[in-house]
Amino acid sequence: MTKPVKILAIIGSYRKGGIIDRAVEEILASAKECGAETRKIWLIDRPLSFCTNCRSCTQKEGLQHGLCVLEDDMESLLQEVERADTLVLASPMNAGTVTAVMKLFIERLVCFGYWPWGTPAPKSRNPVKTKRALLVASSAAPSVFARLSGDVTRLLKTAANLVGARTVGVLFIGLAAQKQQQELSKRSKKKARLLGQKLAEGK
Ligand SMILES: Cc1cc2nc3c(=O)[nH]c(=O)nc-3n(C[C@H](O)[C@H](O)[C@H](O)COP(=O)(O)O)c2cc1C
Repeated sequence: MTKPVKILAIIGSYRKGGIIDRAVEEILASAKECGAETRKIWLIDRPLSFCTNCRSCTQKEGLQHGLCVLEDDMESLLQEVERADTLVLASPMNAGTVTAVMKLFIERLVCFGYWPWGTPAPKSRNPVKTKRALLVASSAAPSVFARLSGDVTRLLKTAANLVGARTVGVLFIGLAAQKQQQELSKRSKKKARLLGQKLAEGK
């Protein structure tokens, strides 16, 4: 028997029950029905400190991510990321980009780079992408406009690359803030379910 695909969703929305939550729920429910193991982490529930740019975590060469000097939940979060086969990285678009909690998380992923002092840019510790990532985003603007004007998907993809995940899909939900409690459209629901199935099948 093949092992179930382990899917970890990391959510950068501030609203439980909001559109990102609904989309991720739909993806995970569908994946679970297809045999995957699923888990969801809200970044608002795992307060992280700001990266201080000290770069201690980037100095030691090797495939393993560097250790951060800050004592908070990041290391346990990273262990969960490393145990997962597939990530769902989800964030609303705020001020043209990912939310502040998601940005903070992405900055802390600098530990996946080897970047000794004296070199201009970090080198990835994960050149071979063994994981998969699905990116989920939402915006008040229509999705075509939001994707062109903002950089949410670019940043989520950066996060995926840093942890060694290849992006296999994007669900971008536009016109997501028409009502205080907005439901997923039939179309988004259908797409979310198909993507969940695809992730469970390891595609
Ligand atoms: C502070 C703030 C900034 C926002 N900036 C944008 C924006 O730049 N572009 C956009 O289309 N929507 C913007 N929105 C709308 C959010 O993208 C929308 O409320 C969100 O996608 C809903 O996700 P949620 O239900 O998970 O909270 C903004 C909302 C807030 C509160």
